[in-house]
Amino acid sequence: MNIIAENISKSYIKKGRKKRQVTAVKTTSAEFDSGKLTVIFGRSGSGKTTLLNILSGLIKPTSGSVKYENKDIFTLNDGELSKFRAENIGYIPQGQSSLGALTVLENLLLPAALIGKIIPDNEVEEILKTVGLENLKDAYPNELSGGELRRLAIARALVNKPSVIFADEPTNDLDDENTQMIFELLKKTAEQGTAVIAVTHDSTAADFAHKIYRMDAGVLTKQEGIKREIA
Ligand SMILES: Nc1ncnc2c1ncn2[C@@H]1O[C@H](COP(=O)(O)OP(=O)(O)O)[C@@H](O)[C@H]1O
Ligand SMILES: [Mg+2]
Repeated sequence: MNIIAENISKSYIKKGRKKRQVTAVKTTSAEFDSGKLTVIFGRSGSGKTTLLNILSGLIKPTSGSVKYENKDIFTLNDGELSKFRAENIGYIPQGQSSLGALTVLENLLLPAALIGKIIPDNEVEEILKTVGLENLKDAYPNELSGGELRRLAIARALVNKPSVIFADEPTNDLDDENTQMIFELLKKTAEQGTAVIAVTHDSTAADFAHKIYRMDAGVLTKQEGIKREIA
């Protein structure tokens, strides 16, 4: 599935004593492809989460369109968009996102259960093995390390076999070893045919990216020629 964002922008009205407008994403166009890990670098507040939320259909842009294989997702109604997202998109949100009352296995199966899909046992085992959690499926989130929790979030995004995966700072607060493991996993997932888009301020990601953008104060710029000295 390839994604084309055309002339998208997003402005927020900040509430407060004086209302002021913040343009989190300045008018930009970009393309994201199947089979590639695209990394978007940028520091905190540069508009990365806003951009991911627009690309994944979570928020409507102030201007522009987002097309998945020529289909403008913002022309869908709420119900159609939710269905489209559930079937096609895996989202790894920033921070901790698993439910404490559920085991690793139950957390993993949750997105599929929500759309009434049954995942065969052998596929479940394969996903757990891919993320290295096969021995922890009965553990609870509070028994996992930061790296293991993040790998669970990735497993959860993989379970419906989405054609597109978005990851919002997937290695925040992780040590080098886990960081490498996560970007390696995202790269491998991309190389199996998924479009993977990750935003981060972790320069390690440059070693794994097929395509790099930078986000600076809402301005998205494509990085030509991938090298290490990014971010
Ligand atoms: N819902 C919102 N309402 C108002 N302002 C917002 C909202 N979300 C983000 N912003 C503002 O937009 C800018 C970009 O934020 P964000 O996209 O979260 O950046 P990043 O993920 O790079 O840290 C920031 O100035 C932030 O305060
Ligand atoms: Mg963010």
